[in-house]
Amino acid sequence: MSLSIPHGGTLINRWNPEYPFHSVTKKIELSNAELSDLELIGTGAYSPLTGFLGKEDYESVVKTMRLANGIVWSIPITLAVSEQKAAELSIGETVKLVHNGQVYGVMEVQELYVPDKQKEALLVYQTEDWNHPGVKKLFERPNVYVGGPITLVNRTNKGRFASFYFDPAETRQRFAELGWNTVVGFQTRNPVHRAHEYIQKCALEIVDGLFLNPLVGETKDDDIPADIRMESYQVLLENYYPKDRVFLGVFQAAMRYAGPREAIFHAMVRKNFGCTHFIVGRDHAGVGNYYGTYDAQKIFLNFSPEDLGITPLFFEHSFYCTKCEGMASTKTCPHSSEHHVVLSGTKVREMLRSGQVPPSTFSRPEVVQVLIKGLAVPHSAR
Ligand code: ADX
Repeated sequence: MSLSIPHGGTLINRWNPEYPFHSVTKKIELSNAELSDLELIGTGAYSPLTGFLGKEDYESVVKTMRLANGIVWSIPITLAVSEQKAAELSIGETVKLVHNGQVYGVMEVQELYVPDKQKEALLVYQTEDWNHPGVKKLFERPNVYVGGPITLVNRTNKGRFASFYFDPAETRQRFAELGWNTVVGFQTRNPVHRAHEYIQKCALEIVDGLFLNPLVGETKDDDIPADIRMESYQVLLENYYPKDRVFLGVFQAAMRYAGPREAIFHAMVRKNFGCTHFIVGRDHAGVGNYYGTYDAQKIFLNFSPEDLGITPLFFEHSFYCTKCEGMASTKTCPHSSEHHVVLSGTKVREMLRSGQVPPSTFSRPEVVQVLIKGLAVPHSAR
């Protein structure tokens, strides 16, 4: 067994700091999410993508969860511009991709097309409801998509947690140096609570290493900010995990909250980072009540193991059981729910924000302390 083969067979590398972009005059302004996508395409995290999707691939992804060439891809990675901007662009020309006045990439404009956003919402998010944060963002984007290959020419400023950003080529090298043949990827947009820890450690019983890969791109406002979470992960690993079996690195993409579709996407990206396994628990990448608790697991049944090239590890809803005196799920615990410590994400965030301490059966005390302290400090002062 060896680390997974990149999705589509080759790790894409479109990072070229020598690219002579100064002669390019026209520019497209990127949103925060598009900027993360640009860097993730450029470094190969989104292999086999080499740019923002053109019409044929876009329609194929929306409809069939595959690129036009049949390779599995479940979330459309697109670049949106206004009608006015689109009118300024010509097919075949090269444009700069900028954010806050800084150039990060260049792109060959191969296609300009108007997406059917209703269809994208219904097929990707399973709803047209504006209350869904992913759908709202989709409908608020400008109305024309620009497709074409990109080159990444500058890297983004990673701030305080720069040392936790790794390109797929780097994580692959690190995993190999650690002697890991099997690596399980773990996606999270939350602090790691006892249930997360439990399913990670169940997985660690059968694979060589854990790639703890928290998402730090844009999330919805009431999710816990990434900088606070980063501290909480470090304190957790320090106190409760064997040092040589976990690798912490961030995933800079924006959260889509697309539930099942996003679970497939999350798995493909972790495959590119070198993971052989990927954890999917309950309501993966879900929000509100838009998806069934295990829909993000069931969706994997649409694909063959060869199509996926990474093994999903499914976990039931896990909790601390006061009768078992340990972590469990309905697969392993015979007791009724009154013995189970279950707190909703919303409830926990409310508790933390008001300085209340969730029980140690729900979250490790060291983690809770970091979260309470972090949330008490206004964002501007962090
Ligand atoms: S996500 O939006 O990033 O998927 P979250 O950070 O809550 O959300 O979850 C990270 C992973 O842990 C997902 O695979 C999710 O399904 C799983 N998970 C979260 N809580 C539980 C739980 N109590 N039991 C089992 N799996 C869980």
